[in-house]
Amino acid sequence: MAANSLDARTEELLAQLTLEEKVRLLAGASSFSLHGIERLGIPSLNMTDGPTGVRSIKGVPATVFPVGVAVAATWNPETAREVAAAIGREAHALGDQVVLAPTINIMRIPTWGRNFESYSEDPYLAGVMGVAYVHGLQGEGVGASLKHYAANNQELERFEVDARIDERTLREIYLSAFERVVKQADPWTVMASYNRLNGTHASQHRGLLTDILKDEWGYEGMVVSDWTAVRSTAPSANAGMDLEMPGPAKWFGDKLLALVGTDVAEAQVDDNARRVLRLIVRSGLMDGPRPAGELRSARHKAIAFEAACEAMTLLKNEGGLLPLRPGLKRVALIGPNAIRTLFQGGGSSQVTTDETRTLAEGLAAALGPDVALAVHKGVDNDPYPPPADRRQFSPTETRETEGLKAEYFPTADLSGEPNSSGVERHMVRWVAGAMATARRPAYGAFRWSGWFWPEQSGTYEFGLRGTGVGRLSLDGALLIGPDTLAKADRYDVTGQIVPRRLATCELEAGRGYPIELEYVPARPDQDFVALGVRAPSEPMAAAIEAAKAADAVVLVLGSATVTEAEGYDREDIDLPGAQDDLARAVLAANTNTVIVLNTGSPFAMPWIDEARAVLQMWLPGETAPDALAAVLTGARSPGGRLPVTFPKAFGQHPAHRVEPDPRVCEYAEGLAVGYRWFDAEGVAPLFPFGHGLAYTTFELTDLKAPVTAKVGEAVRVELTVANTGDRAGAEVVQLYVAPNTPRLPRPPKELKTFAKVTLAPGERRTVALELEPGAFAVWDGGWTVDPGAYQLQVGRSAGDIRASATIRLV
Ligand code: BGC
Repeated sequence: MAANSLDARTEELLAQLTLEEKVRLLAGASSFSLHGIERLGIPSLNMTDGPTGVRSIKGVPATVFPVGVAVAATWNPETAREVAAAIGREAHALGDQVVLAPTINIMRIPTWGRNFESYSEDPYLAGVMGVAYVHGLQGEGVGASLKHYAANNQELERFEVDARIDERTLREIYLSAFERVVKQADPWTVMASYNRLNGTHASQHRGLLTDILKDEWGYEGMVVSDWTAVRSTAPSANAGMDLEMPGPAKWFGDKLLALVGTDVAEAQVDDNARRVLRLIVRSGLMDGPRPAGELRSARHKAIAFEAACEAMTLLKNEGGLLPLRPGLKRVALIGPNAIRTLFQGGGSSQVTTDETRTLAEGLAAALGPDVALAVHKGVDNDPYPPPADRRQFSPTETRETEGLKAEYFPTADLSGEPNSSGVERHMVRWVAGAMATARRPAYGAFRWSGWFWPEQSGTYEFGLRGTGVGRLSLDGALLIGPDTLAKADRYDVTGQIVPRRLATCELEAGRGYPIELEYVPARPDQDFVALGVRAPSEPMAAAIEAAKAADAVVLVLGSATVTEAEGYDREDIDLPGAQDDLARAVLAANTNTVIVLNTGSPFAMPWIDEARAVLQMWLPGETAPDALAAVLTGARSPGGRLPVTFPKAFGQHPAHRVEPDPRVCEYAEGLAVGYRWFDAEGVAPLFPFGHGLAYTTFELTDLKAPVTAKVGEAVRVELTVANTGDRAGAEVVQLYVAPNTPRLPRPPKELKTFAKVTLAPGERRTVALELEPGAFAVWDGGWTVDPGAYQLQVGRSAGDIRASATIRLV
């Protein structure tokens, strides 16, 4: 829609609204929808979570795409654009007009629970991927919500933590990606974060929301609060917080109406309401039927698959162990994540999925019938019984359907007629409140019942985690009840402490056991419940025997379902459970072992010297089984590069300190985030930012750059990239700018542009890279480019510079 017609229509509507109606528009109607104004034909707009896919609040399965860090690992904005466009089409199919994505916060610490959802430690890379994502989504006519603005870099005390950041660091590191996306892609909405910035909550920070975002950057879109992030009435409205979410209003609504004319000027309300209206007009909701969209189509699966392959990052490949050589007879697939592969991380970005294909199925299909595949878990990586798998449950004694019979009752005593019933297929869920996985009428209690079918004989462990009171019985006997010892653990997803109760029992495979869970939520408006089941553990020795007998081993290690999620940070960067022991034992048993990491953040690899091949598969979305198989067998090349430095150990990292007061976080390392710190200190990480190998080799030569350029001009450089190996592959040429004698202290070098080139074996190509004028700028009360000499360093990673040229800015 042309800007002038959008603005004109918005103004026309605004002029017709009463003050009450304007104020009504400034708070949500329900957990993910806005108020409409029927009198004027203004419809109610729906939002939904991203960025991994569409998290339908009705619990409808959607395509699970690779998570943010995986998309960024492709270093291919075109891939980010395609993924986001597909998500936009899925949003149409599910009736949503805004997807709450992308997450572009900087990965300041390797333990941040939402690293997987975000793009990079580098603001340029995060910004470029963010621009592409917003273009992709909005190109389909679905709005983005750029989040979380700003300095939301940890989960610890995420609602209160005060990020204390000096002005220059804020501008150069933490706001820079937001500035790029706002200016280049005009996201329909920007989400204000939970945390405080230098003492003030982002949701009432006028400097952030109005002075910088709206005035300085010229943003005309709408600011939405993160869910429940609004903490005040007048200070928030006056700061430029346009929309309080979720609804119904807690701070805005009547409270705001009462203050208009005194604490809040009517002109402020007009501006806020104008932005909400503009969004509604822009969404096309008032222009007749919306596009039908597309949900879980073959096309979307193909996009998810190619992106997952392209994201996979080959960290080490001694002796060309990968791709697996043809003619293998026996392959062992080992590891906890070989059995239960994580497609995505936890929290609000988690897309409901029905996809149940396993890595074993994917790998067996790719290897063909002549290869014998032995599959072993080796060790467990779950600190607690993992989420119950619906395939082990049935609502009736015959197993036609998976899941449990669910009945929701109006009162807590589970009496009378249920007011809602059906089959529960996801036995971990927020059952009420803003995070609800499925809409249910208000209920006072529920019962899930049916049969449990153990796959093995032995000791099973059950876990019941919930804020309310639950009774779990198995085979007619109470297994877990309110008297079972409760442990409050740090996995408090909703920001509240959620107790977990555990019990074990001996079961036999081959028969069904009647199971029943009766549950009364603590609060009807906010509740979380999870049923967990841990199967009997297999001795590690069985996996080691299989490794010894195999021609090649694929060892898949990684996060458990609770390891990486919104709501909490990890305590360290070690792989959970005894996975490092398993890695050492398997590596000792078979030197043809490929280690695959199914994680969304940096993890330590204490066995790295023994490992010949390590493939970072990330959390690659629902096509993981086929994408991994395609990369292992060489049907696809691993195309990824690290968007974040992998440190050797947590203690090696600049921001690993534990703050004495968890509600205050001094960003004491300043500009020295990620590779900027490793460079400045001369410390070698485990794998540097930008690192990633291909199945072929590349040469970067003939760098040509102008000797001088004028301050404020773009600079074009050229170089030759050659594929010197015998397979096709993609190279990511990275250009870092390094000032020779900076006036202000600066990081040794900073990524300022890059290009991805796919080359056939033996092919050489001239690649042009353009540096925008701002590539040389520092924040010095405003963006300033200092004249002087700069090195233009071209390389394959921050730790592998292949050519460099000096340019003098005059
Ligand atoms: C998250 C947001 C999300 C929102 C709605 C919040 O807790 O921080 O990223 O969009 O919930 O689910």
